[in-house]
Amino acid sequence: MKAKIVGTGSAVPKYCMKNNDFTKFIDTNDQWIVTRTGIRERRISREETTSTLAFEAAKKALESAKCKAEEIDLILVATCSPDDFFPSTACQVQAELGAKNAVAFDLSAACAGFLFALNTAYAYINSGVYRKALIIGADNMTRFLNWNDRGSCVLFGDGAGAVVLEASETGIFHFVQHADGGQGRVLKCFVKYEDSILKKQKEGNSYLEMEGQEVFKFAVKTVPICIEELLKKAGMQKEEIKYYLLHQANSRILLSVAKKLKEKEEKFPMNMEKYGNTSAASIPILLDEMNQEGKLRKGDILVLAGFGAGLTWGSTLLEW
Ligand code: COA
Repeated sequence: MKAKIVGTGSAVPKYCMKNNDFTKFIDTNDQWIVTRTGIRERRISREETTSTLAFEAAKKALESAKCKAEEIDLILVATCSPDDFFPSTACQVQAELGAKNAVAFDLSAACAGFLFALNTAYAYINSGVYRKALIIGADNMTRFLNWNDRGSCVLFGDGAGAVVLEASETGIFHFVQHADGGQGRVLKCFVKYEDSILKKQKEGNSYLEMEGQEVFKFAVKTVPICIEELLKKAGMQKEEIKYYLLHQANSRILLSVAKKLKEKEEKFPMNMEKYGNTSAASIPILLDEMNQEGKLRKGDILVLAGFGAGLTWGSTLLEW
């Protein structure tokens, strides 16, 4: 059995923080942030949470798919910033939606999380286990930012995006996925537990910490290789690809990937200008925006690519 995306949705917090707002507390400026990252503003959660954003995005995806919550067999939430350790964000979304026939669980692969969740759902559908899946990428990364670290705090925003993936007789779907835990130190956010009876408190901060240049080099090196690997696996030529929807970390990363693939920049849509890096939410938010704007036509071949902490990276080729 094949599978196709039949609906999309997204949700972002109301509060909008512009680049100039950072100048009140760190030494930075709008021009530096725009030229180095492509980001102009980002949404920051105040009353919103990871699960409320995930729920909003999921509700819209179900509406767009004209699908009732009870029809869903599987809910997967990709997040590395859940509100709680348990119940999972997926179970919280399931309860809010009333998706009582679904199994629900979270999956953590940072900025590659949505793709890994999409591929996992596809594998379930492809093997005949489930028929309809709701896949959500949701993160509130701004909770973990060190607002004194100008090299990282300007990059991130909060949000959620969702798709409904349904079993289909036709449809092209291929993916490749990778992880390299040995390089994990370059982008990390350690949890500092309180003293337990047996263990001492962990050293370090509970902030996101990043070696920016190392992460940059990792992305521009691995993403083009990963996409070439995917195209080979799918037996497809670059000319057949309508759009490359990449994780919206940084416009310079995307332009470098386009250049390395010898592809036109126009095939790499971007929206990090408005949202910053929303981690697992960035690809489904972009997909939803393009869908809402009518930019995606039936039969279009899309390549999605995610990369981030872990380190993790992967790409997926699918027929719209
Ligand atoms: N405003 C002004 N100056 C800043 C700044 C900011 N927000 N952040 C860093 N700088 C400064 C640095 O302190 C440094 O100053 P110095 O030369 O006086 O030491 C200078 O700018 C250059 O820093 P550098 O780290 O070399 O800049 P860069 O060109 O590598 O850009 C990033 C920094 C973070 C934008 C870039 O490395 C990057 O995008 N990396 C990938 C990050 C990412 O995408 N992470 C998520 C992946 S999922």
